[in-house]
Amino acid sequence: MKKLIRFIAIFSLLTTSFNLSADEGMWIPLLLNKNIDQMQKLGWKLTAEDIYSVNHSSLKDGIVMFGRGCTGEVVSPNGLLLTNHHCGFGVIQRHSSLEHDYLTDGFWAASMEDEKPNPGLTVTFLVRMEDVTSQVLEGIASNLSELERDAVIRKNSKTIVEKATDGNHFDARVVPYFHGNQYYLYVTEVFKDIRFVGAPPSGIGKFGGDTDNWMWPRHTGDFSVFRIYADSNNMPAEYSKDNVPYRPKHFFPISLGGYEQGDFALLFGNPGSTREYLPSYAVDQIAFKENPVKIGLRQKRLDIIGYSMDTSRLVRIQYASKHAGISNYWKKMIGETRGITKANGVARKKEFEADFQKWADANEEDKPGYSNILPLFEKMYDKLGPVDMAFTYLREAGMAPEIFSLATRAQDLIKAASDKTVSDEEVEKEAQDLLRSSRGFYKNYQPLIDQKITSEMLEEMQDHMEKQYLPDIFATIEKKYKGNIPAYTSTLFSTSIFTDSTRLYSFLNGFRRKSVRKLAEDPAYLLGQSIMAKYRNEIYPAGKGINSQIDSLQRIYMQALMEMQPNRQFYPDANSTLRVCYGKVDGFEPADGVEYNYYTTTHGILEKEDSTIYDYDVDPRLKELIASSDYGRYADADGTMHVAFISTIHSTGGNSGAPVLNGNGELIGINFDRNWEGTMSDLIYDPDQCRNIVLDIRYLLFILDKYAGAGWLVEEMNVR
Ligand code: ARG
Ligand code: GLU
Repeated sequence: MKKLIRFIAIFSLLTTSFNLSADEGMWIPLLLNKNIDQMQKLGWKLTAEDIYSVNHSSLKDGIVMFGRGCTGEVVSPNGLLLTNHHCGFGVIQRHSSLEHDYLTDGFWAASMEDEKPNPGLTVTFLVRMEDVTSQVLEGIASNLSELERDAVIRKNSKTIVEKATDGNHFDARVVPYFHGNQYYLYVTEVFKDIRFVGAPPSGIGKFGGDTDNWMWPRHTGDFSVFRIYADSNNMPAEYSKDNVPYRPKHFFPISLGGYEQGDFALLFGNPGSTREYLPSYAVDQIAFKENPVKIGLRQKRLDIIGYSMDTSRLVRIQYASKHAGISNYWKKMIGETRGITKANGVARKKEFEADFQKWADANEEDKPGYSNILPLFEKMYDKLGPVDMAFTYLREAGMAPEIFSLATRAQDLIKAASDKTVSDEEVEKEAQDLLRSSRGFYKNYQPLIDQKITSEMLEEMQDHMEKQYLPDIFATIEKKYKGNIPAYTSTLFSTSIFTDSTRLYSFLNGFRRKSVRKLAEDPAYLLGQSIMAKYRNEIYPAGKGINSQIDSLQRIYMQALMEMQPNRQFYPDANSTLRVCYGKVDGFEPADGVEYNYYTTTHGILEKEDSTIYDYDVDPRLKELIASSDYGRYADADGTMHVAFISTIHSTGGNSGAPVLNGNGELIGINFDRNWEGTMSDLIYDPDQCRNIVLDIRYLLFILDKYAGAGWLVEEMNVR
């Protein structure tokens, strides 16, 4: 029976491809009035005003963008903040050393005095948003070129932002929605004193590691704890020991009640980017051309880094964050391409496009131009193909050597030192700046790993890129090294001043204007410059014209879709702004004959345990706690300790760390991942296969309270 239902679900998706299920969508918090009836029918007990309001405190006031990409939520009157372990990973790694290895062992502040400052880390609240479409588009005539249009939009946006930030401490930006058919003013407040309060050891916070990443069933305690500090007036301030815990306008109460199959669940966070309204040509390009190349290149880097991490504890610490970063999207892309293949995503889009074409042709008189959209799309994507491939190789291979990023940082110093109008003091300052930033670089750097990666990436470029797009450095390699790339990189790594910290430090400390030649002729610098030059002078300009035409087509296509389906409720693609997504707690069938439950328990941690595999090494104390089943009030009604659950909520990168709420607006979990079968939801959402993965809040409390002995943090929260 289930099989049949599934078949019908897929079939209806196939034929009406753009018909929304209740679960699909990432909604603008300001406009929830349109959804609220449906939400309440599904189990939401509060109002739209409770979620977003500018007149009184609302749920949005408890949510932040954590750092530059993740989400976090406030859970106590003292600014206590929860997010994912993987969102705090970089911070935890920066506080770690061989002596204090917080990645491996975890960290728990014993009191507020113990909480660790993090220069550069910010959290951002949404103050308000406002539809400013008509102001942004003011003065735009239909005969303007794309470039002229952009210029007017930029000018109008600047005026709007200036007005919104005049006389206050807020930031603001104007953000396009629906591919430039609508614009919203987005006003935010940024806090800068964010302290690290605690995180479980990787054996809990990253349990299952990259092996389980993007997979269900999952047993990862993926959380970390921070606190927002403010000045004595509760205002954002740079770090100061005199700052005090921030008093939020809203903090989330926590439910110990759990959830059942089919229960309503709501996710409130900052999804980064989706592309749901692309034409079939674009989906084909992404899933079957771009992704395979990126996957292959990343695989090579991961193999090199992984090998060294397995053989050295130091390398494991140094490269943990980098490895996780490369691996994450490597695996996501594998899932995405598989998902698109299995769901016949391209064919599905094509079928829909046939309907669209019929509609556009029939309405040619009232809506001239619409019938040309798809043929033009096809032409433009054909043209983009080769440029896109060149760009992909440059990004994923050419810019992959770490030494690339360090050497290009020398640009400012070279510029300053070569410019006679710049004073000696300023040149000296540039040299010291470079010295300082290079210290952070070397803390986590192994030249041998980088050398291998550089060789392999350059070889890939040489073997696969069209000759016209190859950076000039390859001509040098041909001439001086007879095309022998390993010989070239070996010379580069043994002679460059950037590959050896003592060499670079002593050079920079004694820096004189006339030594600038040594920098400008450094082989690592030259490699970086050659790659950048190819990008700047050829690939970017070639892509820019095509992309701008594609953008304008996409805008018109979006508008046409909305006119073609006037009764359909559209949601805009994710764009790193706050969105509300909702669905129901539910398992799924990943393959014929296989059914996945909607939750996991601590039992599965012991099942997965394998002390010979780093990712499945279970912390001995956690093991004892599980063995004694001492879960107290955190156990489910069935007596087990739930670790994670899944729901049909439509989510994407950036929703990590975001609160998952029950119908009463109480926290039941923290979003941290998606299932592999469903990662295609960034391009096509399928209610049958797409699930978000959520850490059960009761497991988090159990770890804090029983494992970490950090009961003082639980006391701060409102646990129901
Ligand atoms: N896939 C999740 C996300 O996209 C988690 C990534 C971090 N975890 C990992 N094992 N690399 O962010
Ligand atoms: N782990 C992702 C993040 O960092 C969430 C997973 C997803 O892409 O849905 O935002």
